[in-house]
Amino acid sequence: MNETIGRVALVTGGARGQGAAHAEALAAAGMRVVIADVRDEDGEKTVAELNNKNLSVRYLHLDVTDEVAWARAVADIEHHEGGLDALVNNAGIIRVTPLNELQLSEWELLQKVNTASVLLGMKAAFPAMARRGGGTIINIASTAAHRGAEAYGAYSASKAAVLALTRAGALEYAPHNIRVNSISPGGVETPMNDDEPAGGTSSSAPLGRRARPEEISPMVVFLATDASSYATGADFLIDGGVTVR
Ligand SMILES: NC(=O)c1ccc[n+]([C@@H]2O[C@H](COP(=O)([O-])OP(=O)(O)OC[C@H]3O[C@@H](n4cnc5c(N)ncnc54)[C@H](O)[C@@H]3O)[C@@H](O)[C@H]2O)c1
Repeated sequence: MNETIGRVALVTGGARGQGAAHAEALAAAGMRVVIADVRDEDGEKTVAELNNKNLSVRYLHLDVTDEVAWARAVADIEHHEGGLDALVNNAGIIRVTPLNELQLSEWELLQKVNTASVLLGMKAAFPAMARRGGGTIINIASTAAHRGAEAYGAYSASKAAVLALTRAGALEYAPHNIRVNSISPGGVETPMNDDEPAGGTSSSAPLGRRARPEEISPMVVFLATDASSYATGADFLIDGGVTVR
């Protein structure tokens, strides 16, 4: 993993949940990590915990739906860390609403936070990574992108679009040595699931349990490093077997 030492990673939605675990794993692999989120208090707390473990992590406020803020964030990282090598587009939200009750405003919110954010992140990271001679982008999708579930229509659509953006990005960015892949976790034990109705899709895995966030992180590290140097445009399912049913 020597090649990761000193490389710079940005993890959106890293204040808590999976993003915090990914930030820890990337930093433990030797990368300098910037956590971006809108939950400033959680973000600063996570950074303090990781800094206490001697990991190189800092916090940056970033609303991933704000294109101007994206440009500022990447410029800030280039200034302070010297460049950007890996982007983990992890920030996301969930709403569980049957189609006939779904308001256009809720649909648009999910498309904005879960999907447009990925496009904005890819666009913002591209010039910085191109200047660096290459990079790697990891978009967090979901098993919801692969299968149907009642009341998950808007969330599923937002995540299926992440797979489509990943494929387009892989093709457009390959000439610049920038790889773009996605990860589709199944149910993961994070605060996002606190609101999920009992019997929700995320507890129905053949392995009989949800994942812990740190069970997804090794795939993030794999895709963020040269260990995955020939992987691009692919989706990597980590779902306890839920999609083979
Ligand atoms: N938890 C699951 O079961 C599960 C399963 C599959 C995929 N996912 C996906 O994994 C990713 C991480 O989710 P999690 O489970 O850690 O949930 P989480 O709610 O614990 O973390 C999501 C983070 O994203 C941040 N965020 C939300 N909107 C933002 C915005 N506009 N700008 C910046 N940050 C914002 C939140 O503040 C939060 O810190 C999400 O994309 C989610 O859709 C989750």
